[in-house]
Amino acid sequence: MRVGILTGGGDCPGLNAVIRAVTRKGLQEGFEIIGFKNGWQGLIENDFVNLDLNSVSGILPRGGTILGTSRTNPYKKEEDTRKVKENFNNIDNLIAIGGEDTLGVAFKLFEEGLNVIGVPKTIDNDLSCTDYTFGFDTAINIVSEAIDRLHTTAESHHRVMVVEVMGRHSGWIAVEGGIAGGADVILIPEIPFDIQMVYELINKRHQRGKKFSIVVVAEGAKFKKDFALQEENRDAFGHVHLGGIANLLAEEIEKGTGFETRVVVLGHLQRGGSPSAFDRILGTRLGIKAIELVKEKNFGQMAALQGNKIISVSLKDAVGTLKVVDEEFYKIAEVFFG
Ligand code: F6P
Repeated sequence: MRVGILTGGGDCPGLNAVIRAVTRKGLQEGFEIIGFKNGWQGLIENDFVNLDLNSVSGILPRGGTILGTSRTNPYKKEEDTRKVKENFNNIDNLIAIGGEDTLGVAFKLFEEGLNVIGVPKTIDNDLSCTDYTFGFDTAINIVSEAIDRLHTTAESHHRVMVVEVMGRHSGWIAVEGGIAGGADVILIPEIPFDIQMVYELINKRHQRGKKFSIVVVAEGAKFKKDFALQEENRDAFGHVHLGGIANLLAEEIEKGTGFETRVVVLGHLQRGGSPSAFDRILGTRLGIKAIELVKEKNFGQMAALQGNKIISVSLKDAVGTLKVVDEEFYKIAEVFFG
């Protein structure tokens, strides 16, 4: 049996753990493992490598993906959709590792009769039906370490530090990274924020003698009124390229409170480098589950973490809605604001 595998969308630490697990477990089952390069682009161009024990040796601690990735959407052009289906004839089934966009394509292909299985991946942790996606744990460790470091310089200079983190539609990185780092204000896309409230929280801290504050803002956070102007560059799935909210916010904080303010945009640092042990284990478990699903011919499914169990859920449910930060979780962070 020929099993294809690809990694699509933004990279994140832990992808190589999945590729390694799929390859090692798949070879043990007697399958041939074909790695398509650069996400759906590899299937469009039939650009692949055969994966064997040596090709996945030593990749567990490495960030990124040995297969490369892209944000190619094969449903954007009819010609590309046709090529994907044509090249699919060279394999028996496909394991697609990705987030809402990559798995959205995987689900469409499944509905059109192809044997596809999904593995959830997004640094933002906003995919439904799975408690965590690999890469997220590494990212929040990077965020909390950055906040720890920023505390000492913020305190020495009596400044407000605005830290922008990833999170296009959901604020999981901001909330969990912020709680772990002890942030004084956390702003997320799910709850448009009132700038007056931000001033009040910072002033409250300063009135009780604290001369610095750490504000964590997710890149997709919005002012309550139509305030943030963002550039309208879009990718193949129609997502706006974000970035810049921290600068706007910092300007307003300096004007509104009079406190000197600096900005740190963590950006792709959050996605780079070696995965945490948690992400290596999660990626490994999900990869093994994907091969089990192949063996059972249980297509149209996604491997997922629920509680401490790896289970399978339908791709349809997984890509239907995003998992956003709930009020109850945000309330935990709010206890420490100001
Ligand atoms: O989709 C994950 C993500 O990291 C988002 O948080 C961020 O907005 C986007 O990718 C950045 O995309 P790119 O790597 O294409 O700049």
